[in-house]
Amino acid sequence: MITASEKLNREIKERLERLAVYDRDYWSFKGNSRREHGHGFFQYPAMMVPQMARAILAEACAVHPDIEWVFDPFAGSGTILTESMLMGLSFAGCDINPLAILLCRTKAGPFFHKALADKVHCLLDRIKTDMDSRIEIDFAGRDKWFRDDVQIALSKIRRAIMHEMAIWARSFFWIALAETARVTSNSRTSTFKLHTRPLSEIVTRSLDPILQFQRVVERNLDHMKTQSECLNSNGYLNRGHYTKNIELYLGDTSELKFSNGKRFDIVITSPPYGDNVTTVPYGQYSYLPLQWIDPSDIDCNDITQYLRSTHEIDYRSLGGKQRINKDDESYLSERSQSFGRLLKQLSLEPSDRAKKVTAFFRDLNRCLAPILERLQPGGLMFWTLGNRHVAGKSVPLDAILTEMLECEGTVLLTQLKRRIPSKRMAIRNNIAETMRAETILVMRKAV
Ligand SMILES: C[S@@+](CC[C@H](N)C(=O)[O-])C[C@H]1O[C@@H](n2cnc3c(N)ncnc32)[C@H](O)[C@@H]1O
Repeated sequence: MITASEKLNREIKERLERLAVYDRDYWSFKGNSRREHGHGFFQYPAMMVPQMARAILAEACAVHPDIEWVFDPFAGSGTILTESMLMGLSFAGCDINPLAILLCRTKAGPFFHKALADKVHCLLDRIKTDMDSRIEIDFAGRDKWFRDDVQIALSKIRRAIMHEMAIWARSFFWIALAETARVTSNSRTSTFKLHTRPLSEIVTRSLDPILQFQRVVERNLDHMKTQSECLNSNGYLNRGHYTKNIELYLGDTSELKFSNGKRFDIVITSPPYGDNVTTVPYGQYSYLPLQWIDPSDIDCNDITQYLRSTHEIDYRSLGGKQRINKDDESYLSERSQSFGRLLKQLSLEPSDRAKKVTAFFRDLNRCLAPILERLQPGGLMFWTLGNRHVAGKSVPLDAILTEMLECEGTVLLTQLKRRIPSKRMAIRNNIAETMRAETILVMRKAV
């Protein structure tokens, strides 16, 4: 249970703002965004900079040493999870993408890195002595997205992983296979969307999926070892198990279900900036890697429905269902003046623009009550957000979300600005030039 007061509000605001007084770009973490520990397991789109998450947690915990539970309702690859663990905090996370939840589960441990090193050795041996050329999976488009020789090699890896008895080891291996499938598929790696390479390139590409897998699995083993040593030296591991709690939920944050009635002390999160199709298609990006993983190792519920098509995960994500009611526009405009102004600006544009934006904010707004319900009175929130452009008009996600959260009885303490140092998102997406800055909203739930 964290305590809140005007004095603590001033303290957190001053501490956070002071960091950017001498270095205007403090929150950008330019040249300081290395991905060590579990952060380096898999290249998930739009991952949060770990050093930023670390700084937020450090400042929040300095003001509130009583923080125990961190909650990320859009957990993605689990950057906040890993940073929370490194500080010895309990963590709860939710994501609609099964690959994100598998990443989080794997990063949560256990950390049996010595046993894992032996298992890696046996696994590689099994793969290299497997002379079978059967293909282990089937899905629409399999031959379009993977060359025959790549399918045979990935099948050998999959067979060897299925042979492994321990779920914690299989999860670790699935992540390495996911990364291998991602880079050896026929889809371009320069975009988050599924986009085939030209045939001439597909047939001539030099690919060795087994060697690729070996490199990834050995790299990830090193990452796990470093993290394990770090956790151990701080007393956060007991026989390889993290000593605090971790709860993960695969599903829509607006329908959040956690088994116990636990309330969290702090929310740190970065939601999507808009609907996946026009911003970052997390689902399309994860579709091919997910095909190779045994679904029952990801979640006890049937996840095959998430893979019905290349668009299913994106369709289920914020703003994916674009049919809106007339009431949605007026309801959201009442909650946010900035949203109302944006709608007016878009009224002269083709109608699908306003519909897409409305569908996204309708879904984001639906997530707020379940998130706040889970936050302690007086709990802190850090939202990292980017404003994009639609039809040449700026979509002020930071202002709209602030206003929507204020309707739910929360108070804005400060806004931190950061410039995005990496050009990856900018160059490779059609949201290009608009993604140059992010805002971190710092808010507190009323007591
Ligand atoms: C910007 S990413 C989060 C990245 C994360 N901070 C990290 O470092 O990897 C946003 C995440 O929101 C998830 N998402 C989108 N719509 C969702 C919904 N309705 N419920 C839960 N998660 C959702 C996406 O799958 C994606 O993983």
